[in-house]
Amino acid sequence: MKGMVFTEFLEMVEDQFGWEIAEDIVEESNLPSGGAYTAVGTYDYQEMVAMVVTLSKKTEVAIPDLLKAYGKHLFGRFNSLYGNFFEGVDGTFQFLSTIDQYIHVEVRKLYPEAELPKFEYEHPNDHTLIMIYSSKRPFADFAEGLLIGCIDHFGESVTIEREDLNAADGTEAKFTLVKVTESIAAD
Ligand code: HEM
Repeated sequence: MKGMVFTEFLEMVEDQFGWEIAEDIVEESNLPSGGAYTAVGTYDYQEMVAMVVTLSKKTEVAIPDLLKAYGKHLFGRFNSLYGNFFEGVDGTFQFLSTIDQYIHVEVRKLYPEAELPKFEYEHPNDHTLIMIYSSKRPFADFAEGLLIGCIDHFGESVTIEREDLNAADGTEAKFTLVKVTESIAAD
């Protein structure tokens, strides 16, 4: 995974749990890279898994909750770092529909070694978007956090329902996003 995914993770840990914890998890996770991440480097995604496991043990926050919190945090950073992807986009569904065929395609041009998931989309009606996540990496929780971050960013009322696919190992999940409109809420 790209170094920025690691540097942003450690910044979130420092903000939320303090620098001592951030230092401890780097020291205690037996990281092949030693944990000296640079934004331009590329590192084994297993190092992220190792740090999340250590952080969970230390903080007693469950691993899925940590990955979701991280996804949510990172979405906010994407907004500052890659503002051009947000130009002219005025809603959650519009934005999310561009990830697979546009945003991640552009990311791959910038970083040919990036490890990106695949999304398939279904749009059964105006208020429902289905996204099927699949990856070689077990980051469905991280994806869910990014989705939550996106919904928060656009300030819309959208519910997420998740169904784990492929033996629920985190590499495949179906997310059904539903816009809560007033008429539905009143039902
Ligand atoms: C401006 C918006 C976005 C940008 C610039 C962006 C860019 C990136 C980058 C740079 C990576 C790391 C690649 C690597 O480590 O080698 C990544 C991974 C990932 N992205 Fe995006 N992304 C964006 C939005 C999203 C959103 C909204 C989702 C929602 C689900 C998403 C899902 C993921 C996931 C789950 C990964 C982890 C890799 C994996 O699961 O296999 N991304 N993205």
